[in-house]
Parts: sequence; structure tokens; C-alpha cells
Amino acid sequence: MGNELKQFIDRNIPTIESAMFELVEKISAPAHLKESMLYSLKAGGKRIRPLFVAAVCEMYNKPLHASYKVGAAVEMIHTYSLIHDDLPCMDDDELRRGKPTNHVVYGEALATLAGDALNTLAFGVLARLEDVTAEKRIELVNLLSIAAGAEGMVGGQILDMDGEKRLLNIQELETVHVNKTGALLRFSIESGAVLADASNEDRKALVEYAHHIGLAFQIQDDILDIEGTSEQLGKTAGKDVASEKSTYPALLTLDGAKQKLEEHYTFALQALQSIKTDTSLLQQFAGYIVRRSN
Ligand code: IPE
Ligand code: IPE
Ligand code: MG
Ligand code: MG
Ligand code: MG
Repeated sequence: MGNELKQFIDRNIPTIESAMFELVEKISAPAHLKESMLYSLKAGGKRIRPLFVAAVCEMYNKPLHASYKVGAAVEMIHTYSLIHDDLPCMDDDELRRGKPTNHVVYGEALATLAGDALNTLAFGVLARLEDVTAEKRIELVNLLSIAAGAEGMVGGQILDMDGEKRLLNIQELETVHVNKTGALLRFSIESGAVLADASNEDRKALVEYAHHIGLAFQIQDDILDIEGTSEQLGKTAGKDVASEKSTYPALLTLDGAKQKLEEHYTFALQALQSIKTDTSLLQQFAGYIVRRSN
């Protein structure tokens, strides 16, 4: 990982996490519901989505205060998506972020509801952002609702489940990846552009970067499912083959998937070239996404 990125991550993770935990700790809700929500949020994870929101603001030399809350909102949605993704009716996983999955600890009903509560809280966090204009808050709520919902992550998840019943073609699989994983990453990067008042041209370039980052991110996830160990990943390795899921390695072989990964890495870097501000942090971020080992 590039030095600048490593320092950025080390500097920002503690604030990102404490801001997010505080947002949940202060709500008034049944104790076991809060416990279940905090269990998955505090289990760890790379925090890539909130880091992206902050990295884009940093790139434009904007204060990071609001980015931590927007990052918390997208991380809540991401964490809810993982809780539901792990349920027996979906991927049926028992290990997540190195710990037993939410439903294993709290049961399916509480896990489902903890996911629902994180999902809805995220939109409240955006609506209540301090020192951000009402216009921007509405724009962020709208972007997140598109990214997280039927046109985005949720839509992608159902197509992903369809891909266990029949082998999808490469175009269908790209649609799965763009939606189930790409949409929240795009939100993370685009919301940074909204907070930082990026120009329309820069925003377009950042969205193009995000498109390739989203695809690269999920292709590497699929590769790691084959090449990684459960210990290294903090989740059960080998699940995609076991459930005969349509993935890039399944359709293109492992080598073909790695080639696609490199292509999207190159396209992501190219997308940044039109931006006048120093984009080295986002360049290093792209490298991290494609070379990551967990
Ligand atoms: C895992 O996401 C699920 C996918 C969208 C591929 P991450 O790899 O970002 O998971 P955490 O947040 O680090 O646990
Ligand atoms: C999940 O994709 C994407 C989500 C929207 C949660 P995967 O099912 O591949 O994620 P992992 O491998 O369980 O983390
Ligand atoms: Mg899944
Ligand atoms: Mg899964
Ligand atoms: Mg996976």
C-alpha cells in the first residue's frame, strides 16, 4: 500500500469508527437491538467506503467532519447488507469479519431487524448532517436511496442469487457486480464530490473511476474467495464454488478474472487523469483495492 494512503488510513480510521459508533450508541432503542447492530459494526472490516468519502474531501482540501458522518451512513448500509447477505436464505455464512455472523449470535429475527434498523438509520444520519446545506442533504439522501435500493445494491443481490440457479453470461455478471458492490462504492466517491463541491467535470471523472473501482473490487473478492483462506479473509473461503455461484473466475477462469481486474485498474487510473487536483491518494486507493489480500 502507498505510504500516503497508509498514513491517511491510520489517521482517519479511529475518527471514522468513533463517529459511527456514537451515532448508534445515542439512539433510544431496545437494548438487544442496539447490541446486535453494534456487534456487526464493531466486528471490524476495512472501512473502505467511509475512507473513500473522506479521501475525496481530503483531495479537495475540504474539512473532513461531514465526511465522517456520510461515511458512517454508507458503512451502516454496507454492514446491514452483509448481515442480510449472510442469512441462511441468502449465502448462509457463519463467519464474518472474523466473528460468528449476526444471526448465529442473535438469531435470524434479530439479525434481520438489526439490518433493517441500520438501513433506516443511515438515511436519518444524512438528513440530520450539520453544517451541510439542505440542498446537499437531499441530494445525498437521494443518491444513497438509489445506490442502496432496487436500482443498486438490493437489485444486484437478487441477480446474484439468480446466478446460483443458472450460469449468468458475462454481461449479466457485470450488471450484478456494478449493482451489488459498485453502487455503494460509487455513492462513497460521489458523495465526497458533493461535499467537496467538485466541478461537474471532476464529478463525472470520479464516477467513471468509481465504476471501475466497483468492478475491480468485486472481481478481487471473487478471486480471494478461491485463493484466500478463511482465516485471512475473516469469512468462509470457497463459498462461491460450493454454491455454484456465477463469478468472474467461474466464467472466465482465474487467469481471465485477473486480466479483467488489471483492465479495470488501468481504466480507473485513466479516469483520474482529467482531474487537475493531485489525485495520488485515489491512485494509491485503486492499487490497494486490486492488490488487497482480505
Ligand atoms: C465485502 O465487502 C462484501 C462485498 C461487497 C464484496 P468488504 O470486503 O468491504 O467487507 P468489510 O467491510 O471489509 O468486512
Ligand atoms: C456481497 O457479495 C455483496 C453485498 C451486497 C453484501 P458477496 O456475497 O460476494 O460478499 P461476501 O463474499 O459474502 O463478503
Ligand atoms: Mg452474496
Ligand atoms: Mg456472501
Ligand atoms: Mg464474495
